[in-house]
Amino acid sequence: MAEEVELNSNLFQKQLNGKHMFDDKLMLNMLVDTPPVSHNRLLANIIKVYDSPIVRAYVKVRFTIIDTNILNILALCLRGKRKILDVGCGFGLFGCYLAALYPEVSYFGCDLDPGRIDLANEAARRLNLNNASFHCKDAGQLSLNDRFDGIIMIDLLHHLNDDTKASLLATCAKLLSDNGRLIIKDVTMRPFLKLAFTWLLDVLVTRGLDMWYWDEKRFHKALAKHFMEVHSFPITHWLPYPHITYLCETPHSLADK
Ligand SMILES: C[S@@+](CC[C@H](N)C(=O)[O-])C[C@H]1O[C@@H](n2cnc3c(N)ncnc32)[C@H](O)[C@@H]1O
Repeated sequence: MAEEVELNSNLFQKQLNGKHMFDDKLMLNMLVDTPPVSHNRLLANIIKVYDSPIVRAYVKVRFTIIDTNILNILALCLRGKRKILDVGCGFGLFGCYLAALYPEVSYFGCDLDPGRIDLANEAARRLNLNNASFHCKDAGQLSLNDRFDGIIMIDLLHHLNDDTKASLLATCAKLLSDNGRLIIKDVTMRPFLKLAFTWLLDVLVTRGLDMWYWDEKRFHKALAKHFMEVHSFPITHWLPYPHITYLCETPHSLADK
């Protein structure tokens, strides 16, 4: 069994007292109202808790693809949000990251794959995270008796067909509380070579040919059906992925109140 990892205030305190205090990268942490913490140390601690070398390698790759800058964008979009739903949470790496960094957050992750959910819950247990839980649920039939301040979906939507994607977006709008936000990190369709590389990788990982990529225009049209405000932030990145983030606020149902 992997060693239990301490990610609590002791670690933050050590960082505060340590030489990392004036590290540039840490300034972003301060902007999001958290004690400074070394991202690399935090990510390494999360990677360590997965027993399987294959899963550990996958988690490491995911933290490279969704790097510190993207994590900071997600954190800024979620700023002030306490109850967070993550649809398609996979092995729970970003759930563990958010729950460790923001102890005041209550994080609820769900994914279709029961094996991934088991590993995610075990990871949270080993990291002593009482504010993160993971559940097996199909995003296509998501029914939850709860409201969330923030909903995130990281690289889920291009795995869902167009109808499922459209109905999930409608469900998300209904699951948000007042002032809630939907934050989507997905891939867009330009530049073409980056999309082609992403498709190849998706085919290898899912062992299926079908991906349902949407471009920015299509996302905006679908999201505008449910939200008053939709913003998109394409991410220029040296890695071969056409990353994009969408931030959606004020569902029409709440705006009408
Ligand atoms: C590319 S992975 C991303 C996982 C995680 N968000 C991350 O960034 O590491 C896509 C995830 O979507 C999940 N998924 C695919 N179809 C789903 C569905 N219908 N309902 C819930 N999860 C689904 C897969 O099991 C997988 O874990």
